[in-house]
Amino acid sequence: MKAIGTAKRQKEPPGSMKFFIDTADIAEIRDLAETGLVDGITTNPSLIAKSGRDFFEVLKEICDVVPGPVSAEVTATDFAGMLREGNTLAKLADNIAVKVPLTVDGLKTCKALSDDGIKVNVTLCFSAAQAILAAKAGAAFISPFVGRLDDTGADGLQLIAEIVEIYNAYPDFHTEVLVASVRHVGHVIESAKMGADVATLPPAVLRAMYKHPLTDKGLADFLADWAKTGQTILSDGKEARRSA
Ligand code: G3P
Repeated sequence: MKAIGTAKRQKEPPGSMKFFIDTADIAEIRDLAETGLVDGITTNPSLIAKSGRDFFEVLKEICDVVPGPVSAEVTATDFAGMLREGNTLAKLADNIAVKVPLTVDGLKTCKALSDDGIKVNVTLCFSAAQAILAAKAGAAFISPFVGRLDDTGADGLQLIAEIVEIYNAYPDFHTEVLVASVRHVGHVIESAKMGADVATLPPAVLRAMYKHPLTDKGLADFLADWAKTGQTILSDGKEARRSA
């Protein structure tokens, strides 16, 4: 990856990196939401198709489980159609973020919906120039696709670095950088180093973030040694018992 620029930061860094889950699988969402680590959900037409569920039904269910932003994508490609679909989707729940593609009609829709106070996630971003336009259009989120860029031989993370640098240079750009098309834990770590606001993770990537063989081995060793002491922390499930 090329060196990251060093533009002077004019904005406060985000308080924390947020994690969205990139799925419409409600069982996965319920399971991962229990960790308390899930800040939102992103869906797209492919993920809805994969779920095999009714679009509106599954979105409402997801919005009930996760209070944070839930991205629901329009499927019209013209401004009037996207606007109508976006307004329909926004009425589904208070936490819907309308997802529009990074086309000129998508940008127009983003501007119109954002001006009406609706959160918009501009998706299918593959260049810094596109990200600048999304911020100008008032997007709440820009979704650069790191994995799909890597697949072409380009450097997806370099794009994240460029967008973070550009957005940080302008206090009036309030668009959050939502790292999308994440393929592995390395994408998350490098994005976090750059101060990206959000990463949307396939469920397997979130799980891979906490799994470490040395954690498993270390825990097994601790528990084996503990068993040798014959002690328990809880007695009758209520209080600690200490050896005399
Ligand atoms: O939801 C948009 C994005 O995350 C898609 O990822 O894996 O289909 O490239 P992927």
